[in-house]
Amino acid sequence: MAAQDSEKAAFYITTPIYYVSGKPHIGSAYTTIAADVVARYHRLRGEQVVFATGTDEHGQKVLRGAAEAGKSPQDFTDGLVVEYKRAWERLHINYTRFIRTTEQAHVEIVCRIFQQLLAQDDIYRSEYTGWYCVPCETYLLEADLQEGNCPDCGRPVEQVSQQAYFFRTSNYADKLVRYIEEHEEFIGPESRRNEVLAFVRAGLQDACISRNRAEWDIPVPDDPDQSIYVWLDALTNYLTVAGYAEDEAEFAAVWPPDVQLLGKDILTRFHATLWPAMLMALGVPLPKRLFAHGWWSDETGQKMSKSKANVIDPFEVMDKLVEYSGVRTAFAVDTVRYYLLREVPFGLDGSFSITSLLQRFNADLANDLGNLLNRSLPLVERYLDSRVPDPGPGAGALTEEINRTAESVNEHLEQINFRDALIAIWELIGRCNKFIDEREPWTLHNQGKRVELDAVLYDVLDCIRVIAILIDPFMPEVAEEIWEQLGLTEPGVERSWSDIRPQRLQPNTGIRRGAPIFPRIDLERAAAKLQAGEKPAETEKPDDKMQPAEADKMDRISFDEFSKLDLRIGKVLEASRVPGTDKLLVLQVDIGEQQPRQVVAGLAEHFNPRQLLGQTVVLVANLEPATIHDTESNGMILAAGEQEPLALITTDAEVEPGEKIR
Ligand code: MSP
Repeated sequence: MAAQDSEKAAFYITTPIYYVSGKPHIGSAYTTIAADVVARYHRLRGEQVVFATGTDEHGQKVLRGAAEAGKSPQDFTDGLVVEYKRAWERLHINYTRFIRTTEQAHVEIVCRIFQQLLAQDDIYRSEYTGWYCVPCETYLLEADLQEGNCPDCGRPVEQVSQQAYFFRTSNYADKLVRYIEEHEEFIGPESRRNEVLAFVRAGLQDACISRNRAEWDIPVPDDPDQSIYVWLDALTNYLTVAGYAEDEAEFAAVWPPDVQLLGKDILTRFHATLWPAMLMALGVPLPKRLFAHGWWSDETGQKMSKSKANVIDPFEVMDKLVEYSGVRTAFAVDTVRYYLLREVPFGLDGSFSITSLLQRFNADLANDLGNLLNRSLPLVERYLDSRVPDPGPGAGALTEEINRTAESVNEHLEQINFRDALIAIWELIGRCNKFIDEREPWTLHNQGKRVELDAVLYDVLDCIRVIAILIDPFMPEVAEEIWEQLGLTEPGVERSWSDIRPQRLQPNTGIRRGAPIFPRIDLERAAAKLQAGEKPAETEKPDDKMQPAEADKMDRISFDEFSKLDLRIGKVLEASRVPGTDKLLVLQVDIGEQQPRQVVAGLAEHFNPRQLLGQTVVLVANLEPATIHDTESNGMILAAGEQEPLALITTDAEVEPGEKIR
């Protein structure tokens, strides 16, 4: 997949073209997001990329859909194409070509191919008697049926007896077996390759490739009583996009496809048999790699279907995520992209669960990645005046980890193994978090060890830079946000795969810490809402942090309730770590009472105990006492930051301890 033909200028990746019988759902989004990740990865490597997706618009299914909607097929398909394009835009899909099979240029190529294959006797006319599954647009033999129904979708089939055209697939079975045997990379994953091999070794039947003429299909040239079978039409889209029979230079630059992604349901009968046989007949090289992914079912493991009303809409999922966490819409999109590719190995089936999505959001994104940013950038702000320090001779502590991660992510992405690529990236994130724990920059600062402090914070910032590049194919908007927070906004400072090397971060760059990207979700509250079956509000709103509507959704309290809070000014007299914990400090705070208050606070990751001595703070004085890690706590210190204490709340003028706040 990485090695391009020396004579080929572009990396070419495709998705199947989607039936426009309904709007996009999690299945079509899955294939398209996966293709987008591969396309972005190759673009970041500096390659020219042709990334094609589109719509499959002929066939009975579409005709029936239009009739049900009371629309003409043209109006019906035009409307759905708009929905598809909008959905892809919202999901950050950066395709280069959207093909519709109703485009005149495509129709012409389909007809030309039909005529050529007829002229060279790869197509012949005969009698067809058998079965047809309209939802799958598939011809089936008696032996294929399962309890009289379609073996793929389980729905009833229609009997067909007609004059029809056939393609001599049978002539290509032996050649195809040899090809698959000799090209290990041709079909992935391995298990699917074996299935296809067994299927082709058993011999291939000639494929019926026409139907009695139906309005809206492409008529067979010179035989207007017949329509060209939708699959012949649909598969040809990959050739049309590449300029086949139209633009020789373009075709030479693009063909063959480097990767064709598709669901397991359309591999064996179509992409791994009819498609390569057609190409062999045309004398055109086969795609380098076909990769079939698994199917998503609902939370209970049931196949999604409109009749069961269990089809998952990616946008509804995003709405929930925004509602429960307050995350920006663009980052909610990236979260769904991350979840789909992280949760299930590409190639296997999975069940989509909103609960596990929310858990992943908290664990991987808010905790691991979010925490790394939320704890390190404030340190640079506080200690280094928001500037990237000089690395000095002591930097480079994460070099080995960075190089190892780059190598392993490359390997996994070449193998279309998104999950392991993400796991490798998250190992680096974990390592970087641990590095901060080990080196305690706050202690270095406190001890005045400036050279060491610079080296540690340089390594951390540089590692965050590498992480931003690595996650870019999966989470492009999150990568951009991190990039901006690192201050890498100068023109020409774009993310590039070749910069996944240590120590490429320019000293003196001004960082710009932003709001936390992934505000943590209260999982209990979210679960309660989910159970109550609340429908989330539409997220058709500007991509802002705090929407006016959010203020309305807040749980309001009365003035009386607020008055119950006893907030006092305090002065920190003593501070030390709570033994056996990383995060907790125990403070003695003077709030004007006879005895200082003892308070346990989760400040240790961001504040050195000594730094807090003499600090003016705000204390919730009437909070119920609690015992935390065997230490009595009698009050709460206020700090800004939903996930991490980013800054202490203090006063802008000297105030006596014990003063009340109103
Ligand atoms: N039009 C044909 C493809 C022609 S390509 C020359 C078609 N269209 S489709 O809209 O029915 O399906 C397109 C893709 O969506 C397939 O790859 C299919 O596997 C995928 N998915 C549809 N539902 C799915 C899930 N529930 N889960 C995962 N992917 C599934 O077939």
